[in-house]
Amino acid sequence: MPTIALPRLHTDTAWRDAARGLLAAGVPPEDVLWAWDAPDQADLFGTTSAPPPAGTGITVPKSFLDLARRVVWHADPERFARLYAFLWRLRESPRLMADAADADLAHLNRMAKAVNRCAHKMTAFVRFRDLEAEGPRRHFAAWFEPTHHTVEPTAPFFARRFGDMDWIIATPDITARFENGAISFHPGQPRPDLPEDAAEELWGTYFRNIFNPARVKVRMMQSEMPKKYWKNLPEARHIPDMIARAETRAREMAEAAPTLPPLRAARIANLRPAPRVEAPMTFEDLRKRAEAESRETLPGYGRIVLGEGPEDADLMIVGEQPGDHEDREGRPFVGPAGQLFDRIAAEAGLDRDAAYVTNAVKRFKFRQTGKRRLHQPPNAGEIQHAKWWLDLERELVRPKLILSMGATALQSLTGKRDGLMKRRGRIEETAAGPVFVTVHPSYLLRLPDPSRREDETARFREDLEAVARLAA
Ligand code: URA
Repeated sequence: MPTIALPRLHTDTAWRDAARGLLAAGVPPEDVLWAWDAPDQADLFGTTSAPPPAGTGITVPKSFLDLARRVVWHADPERFARLYAFLWRLRESPRLMADAADADLAHLNRMAKAVNRCAHKMTAFVRFRDLEAEGPRRHFAAWFEPTHHTVEPTAPFFARRFGDMDWIIATPDITARFENGAISFHPGQPRPDLPEDAAEELWGTYFRNIFNPARVKVRMMQSEMPKKYWKNLPEARHIPDMIARAETRAREMAEAAPTLPPLRAARIANLRPAPRVEAPMTFEDLRKRAEAESRETLPGYGRIVLGEGPEDADLMIVGEQPGDHEDREGRPFVGPAGQLFDRIAAEAGLDRDAAYVTNAVKRFKFRQTGKRRLHQPPNAGEIQHAKWWLDLERELVRPKLILSMGATALQSLTGKRDGLMKRRGRIEETAAGPVFVTVHPSYLLRLPDPSRREDETARFREDLEAVARLAA
């Protein structure tokens, strides 16, 4: 009976090649033993066979290859055998992948989901500590204990996100190292002694800020951020205390609430560049003001398009300005950029309908050429002029997190538009609360090179995934 020994690294491609070879040679699943990451495998099982050469002319549905690519990282030692047994059946029944009632497929899907969840947890809960090394690049290290073998498939995410620094993610399973732009993998290790990090304070502040005692759901919180990760998360040490004090804080907030609106109104009135009416205090007032201003037509500008979405949303999404479609429909993000955003958000698990979606500037600015109205970016003065609308929407919604998309939103929310590409993917503390920085979806639409567009779309999706988790 052949024993196929799969390597610890690049297990996904090794399993795929071995399975293709076995299939081409007609080796049934019960005649194969699978071993993984065991150099002394020959001693344990007698002989280790090289897999038959990968067969040509074997076609396997892409959906199965995608599934296998996740399942191979599961911790279950039976994973390779299960995959091969299913592949063997698939050869005879190509439609098996669509059979929702098939118990083997359901099992593999559950395994793939567990791997995805573990990879997500890793991207959300790895916390780097600054090693304060000398040299041109900063050095960071993190310790993590994944449930499945997700270090290798997740490392490219960290390389993209933290490409401008050197880092190590140490785990008991395997250690990923990123140096001068290259990833390498090394044996796992015991937990190293890592220095405290100044960034921990920021995380702690952010976490305490977004913690809403009136909405605390302990069980849900623990399922999103399981207790096993708490010990490595700087912000988690605040959880027991915040839960203990939740009821008192919720009462204090309710008691303090009636005194807040006038104070905020005074602040907002100061921000308005040219107030013509009393500062509106409700969404209704804001809508009336928008309608009134929209009746005044300005050549080269559209009407006022306000934001939309739940008025108590946890997440506020801010774009640049309405486009031609938005101006016609009077709603934000309904044109091509909005549709692209919706698609990627859905893939990332970000529920647009649960967010308040708006723009930094409220009128479409255009240049008329024939019948077409060509988009013109707002200038600094226009961004500043429109800021009071956004500030007021923010004050009314009071989101836990703001997603800033593109340079105009960044300028309006943080006062600085430079370095968008360096700042993206991170949270910035601002007077407006925590702001997550990313690019505008129309940037993706404008990229001419398809492979660059694909990479940038993947990064944008990762940003939205991070936001979905943070605002959950
Ligand atoms: N681009 C934006 O920034 N906002 C919209 O509403 C539409 C396109």
